[in-house]
Amino acid sequence: MSADTQVIKKGILLAGGSGSRLYPLTQVTNKHLLPIFNKPMIYYPLTALMLGGVREILIISSPHDIGKFKALFGDGSDWGMGFSYAEQAAPEGLAQAFIIGEKFIDGDSVCLNLGDHILIGDGLPERIQKATRRKGGASIFGHHTSMPERSGIVVLDKQGCAVDLEEKPQKPKSNIAVTGLYFYDANVVEIAKGLKPSLRGELEITDINKAYMERGDLNVDLLGRGYAWFDGGTPETMSAASQYVELIETVQGIRIACPEEVALRMGFIDETQFGKLIDKAGGSPYGAYLSSVLDDM
Ligand code: TTP
Repeated sequence: MSADTQVIKKGILLAGGSGSRLYPLTQVTNKHLLPIFNKPMIYYPLTALMLGGVREILIISSPHDIGKFKALFGDGSDWGMGFSYAEQAAPEGLAQAFIIGEKFIDGDSVCLNLGDHILIGDGLPERIQKATRRKGGASIFGHHTSMPERSGIVVLDKQGCAVDLEEKPQKPKSNIAVTGLYFYDANVVEIAKGLKPSLRGELEITDINKAYMERGDLNVDLLGRGYAWFDGGTPETMSAASQYVELIETVQGIRIACPEEVALRMGFIDETQFGKLIDKAGGSPYGAYLSSVLDDM
């Protein structure tokens, strides 16, 4: 993808929250550092952003946990990325990311991916790149769900335009969930600042999406069959996502959400830099996989 046509070059990874549905696992570490099959959960949303061409990333987590992300990722230069960090004092809602990230955003367009958001499917990189090239407005992805009452949902008209949005509705008007990957123009910061906390006391991302919908500027890309979407926030979904990743990786012999490989394939690093990452992985199966990627190029 040509960097010239890319409008959204910055991304936020939100990795705070309380993780109460995973207690007592979240007594051990932050939810987003727990494994999905063979790698930390946060690798999945991180690589989704990387595949969209996004190289400048702000990681937001709690004051208690932010140091763990700094220790894991550093400044990102090993992967040809730029990572910065910010704290969210309390889990006061997804939309707060844009207020915390105002300086990082600095008047640009930005995307947000939830740190427990796992989206897998052929053609996804191209769809994310399409969203990062779109000028102005907002873009979200829709995905069919059997449990709409647990998600933010979007109602589409016959032309595929959003006509309504609801957060965790008791009587859902649609079974199309809004996934945890969002793309916004620079207006998002002011919109977030104007929000009032919802009844559950959070600044809701659904209210940001509603503001764009009311301006007629909310683009919804509906993912069809063949895409797997997991919110890794419960023991059941962590296990399901792990099994899904294991199955694909075993059958195909390729790895999903491997940041080193994505960095190389996207041209963020060269083969010499990649060689250093192989050395770092030592004699591990992960290192052997990285070596096989290089042999393949
Ligand atoms: P949730 O899964 O809705 O909430 P949670 O992580 O606090 O978990 P639980 O409901 O089990 O207590 O959050 C979605 C994602 O957004 C997740 O990756 C955590 C993150 N998040 C924040 O970083 N800050 C917040 O204020 C909220 C609400 C969520």
